[in-house]
Amino acid sequence: MVVLLLLLCLPFILYLATPKIRKMLSSGVCTSNVQLPGKVVIVTGANTGIGKETAKDLAQRGARVYLACRDVQKGEQVAREIQATTGNNQVLVRKLDLADTKSIRAFAKDFLAEEKHLHILINNAGVMMCPYSKTADGFEMHIGVNHLGHFLLTHLLLEKLKDSAPSRIVNVSSLAHHLGRIHFHNLQGEKFYSAALAYCHSKLANVLFTQELARRLKGSGVTTYSVHPGTVHSELTRHSLFMRWMWQLFFLFIKTPQQGAQTSLYCALTEGLESLSGSYFSDCHLAWVSGQARNETIARRLWDVSCDLLGLPTDW
Ligand SMILES: NC(=O)c1ccc[n+]([C@@H]2O[C@H](COP(=O)([O-])OP(=O)(O)OC[C@H]3O[C@@H](n4cnc5c(N)ncnc54)[C@H](OP(=O)(O)O)[C@@H]3O)[C@@H](O)[C@H]2O)c1
Ligand SMILES: *[C@@H]1O[C@H](CO)[C@@H](O)[C@H](O)[C@H]1NC(C)=O
Ligand SMILES: *[C@@H]1O[C@H](CO)[C@@H](O)[C@H](O)[C@H]1NC(C)=O
Repeated sequence: MVVLLLLLCLPFILYLATPKIRKMLSSGVCTSNVQLPGKVVIVTGANTGIGKETAKDLAQRGARVYLACRDVQKGEQVAREIQATTGNNQVLVRKLDLADTKSIRAFAKDFLAEEKHLHILINNAGVMMCPYSKTADGFEMHIGVNHLGHFLLTHLLLEKLKDSAPSRIVNVSSLAHHLGRIHFHNLQGEKFYSAALAYCHSKLANVLFTQELARRLKGSGVTTYSVHPGTVHSELTRHSLFMRWMWQLFFLFIKTPQQGAQTSLYCALTEGLESLSGSYFSDCHLAWVSGQARNETIARRLWDVSCDLLGLPTDW
């Protein structure tokens, strides 16, 4: 009888306990009180989800924040919202479509002409599980947007970051990188394609690149970090009904976008993190990367192949 009563009450108890459990499970909180007056920041994909919350927090700290969005209208709306809540009116929207190298180059060109400095670059934008499709340049969408797009963007902005050192680059990757593999013979998914795996591969590429870039940037004053934000309630599941169901089923374990932004903020702001450049963080702590992600041979080869695909020199 008591058991039955308990069982009947369980959903109710769970419902009441949800905020507490959620808090317990999302332990990573960025506690830095670093302020950013005079600092310049770019957040890609800042019109929604984790990127929006990251941008809001950085604006709160007084930085000039560029929201780099493919949909300028959505971006403007969010900029107004952030300006209203933070009182910081230096929140600017610029067009950036990471699925089009022309757009990336135009964005960088205007930014470089407009701004003397860049202190923090947050490569946050991402797509997950979209049906097979290609970017304007013929790259498979996941590898094209999540990896190659940010690769080119980082390349174009790197001198400015160096000139503004100490500066930081944060790459939003994912736990999903553990399932990723770099199939050099099928980088564009033309021989076989799985939407779920394509996402994992591109997120592995993020981790590999962070490490390779960190090796190349030693001594430059620019440091780089990759991040797993947690499992976060956002629009990322928009292409997959299955994922939306999973997110609902495991709702207790899902972070809010504001909680999801914490590790990106931690890596962008925490003092004394420089010696860990190239590392991967989750819940505001160092975390394990997959064996593939630690393989320097794969990292170098991917670097060279990416430069080749984008028509860049390999020694940057
Ligand atoms: N949510 C999670 O559980 C989770 C877990 C691990 C990693 N992550 C990573 O966290 C990052 C942020 O994701 P989120 O969860 O906040 O997802 P989201 O709500 O879907 O936000 C993704 C952002 O990326 C932008 N974007 C997509 N394609 C773009 C393109 N071609 N050019 C420019 N911007 C583009 C989107 O713009 P539009 O709104 O215009 O489409 C949106 O602003 C991603 O890199 C994702 O891989 C998320
Ligand atoms: C972030 O990831 C992109 C895509 O993999 C890569 O091109 C870029 O160099 C990385 N940047 C950092 C700082 O890791
Ligand atoms: C790295 O990957 C290459 C190619 O897949 C493999 O031959 C090599 O053994 C790997 N190295 C390590 C240290 O795992």
